[in-house]
Amino acid sequence: MNTDKSPEIKITKTKQSNIGNVDFGNLPFGQVFTDHMFVCDYKDGKWQQPEIMPYQNICLDPSSKIFHYGQSVFEGMKAYKDDEGKIFLFRPLENQKRMNISSQRLAIPEFPEDYFMKGLSELLKLEKDWIPTTDGSSLYIRPFVIATGHGVHASASDAYKFIIICAPSGLYFSKRIKVKIEQYYSRAANGGVGYAKAGGNYGGSFFPTQKAIQQGYQQVIWTDDATHQYIEEAGAMNIFVRIGDTLMTAPKSERILDGITRKSLIDIAKDEGIPVEVRKFTVKELIEAQKKGELNEMFGAGTAAIISPISGFGFEDTDYELPEIKNDYASRLKKRITDIQYNRADDKFGWRFEVK
Ligand code: PLP
Ligand code: COI
Repeated sequence: MNTDKSPEIKITKTKQSNIGNVDFGNLPFGQVFTDHMFVCDYKDGKWQQPEIMPYQNICLDPSSKIFHYGQSVFEGMKAYKDDEGKIFLFRPLENQKRMNISSQRLAIPEFPEDYFMKGLSELLKLEKDWIPTTDGSSLYIRPFVIATGHGVHASASDAYKFIIICAPSGLYFSKRIKVKIEQYYSRAANGGVGYAKAGGNYGGSFFPTQKAIQQGYQQVIWTDDATHQYIEEAGAMNIFVRIGDTLMTAPKSERILDGITRKSLIDIAKDEGIPVEVRKFTVKELIEAQKKGELNEMFGAGTAAIISPISGFGFEDTDYELPEIKNDYASRLKKRITDIQYNRADDKFGWRFEVK
């Protein structure tokens, strides 16, 4: 990994904060951004001196490869503030590592761990007052890399920009979602980029999702591209289902994003004594369980949405409803994970990272 020697960060503060114009009691998800951003350029074969600067537009040559070939990756993280004003991140090194796994697949140079962690920490210390504390809110953090090299030759760029922006945010979904089990479009295929957080994976999902929305659903459940029989992901979330008392989730694969929320929930569920099965399962199994009254819960899990309960699913022109049960796993697991994230409970797994 090529870098200049140390990640000495040049900091230029804003002259005029925008914080007074933000309604913290009524925050949308990912719409309002903080005063500063972290930027680091890659050129001449190495990452240059990182900078924190006022949030601003970026100016790029129209031939930059990001515009033509979509060479980009991103991450999604959150910062939380506890009652004493201490700032926490949740398993940030997992995001840092995954970003480099994604970068490798997109032929983007890896971003060094010390640059990532120092840049993020310095930015968060500067934006401390922007971390909301109202129920269900947090500071959503979006690190991303784009190809800025010039020229429309279809090959990897020789220049990149790594940027971190932050958005004080409320809930991603405010109520249970109704999903469509996708039988035609695919999010990912073996040998493809499904396991990477590549911008294009999301761009490619918008059209099938729009169609599902027109049909009365809020999200698409992705199935395997070869047979469309196996349940894989829930939009931009990993998927969990509860049949009887067993909690199931699809195993990691080349087509599935290795979600940090997913793997944390598996550990928490096991710790709670919940029977957990990580295995492939089919649409047919879900329908049979639903007909027998054994399909008790389905939910999506991810950083942005945390845990998003599913009210029912559509498959081949039929809608299947899920009951609203007491003592549901979704609420129990959401409480356990958010109590760790917001420093309200013991961190027995060692997942919390204090920014100081
Ligand atoms: N699956 C996809 C396709 C995603 O975009 C995300 C969101 O990041 C997830 C799963 C959940 O991953 P994580 O829990 O690390 O946010
Ligand atoms: C996240 O959960 O952080 C994501 O990246 C999902 C998203 C595309 C909003």
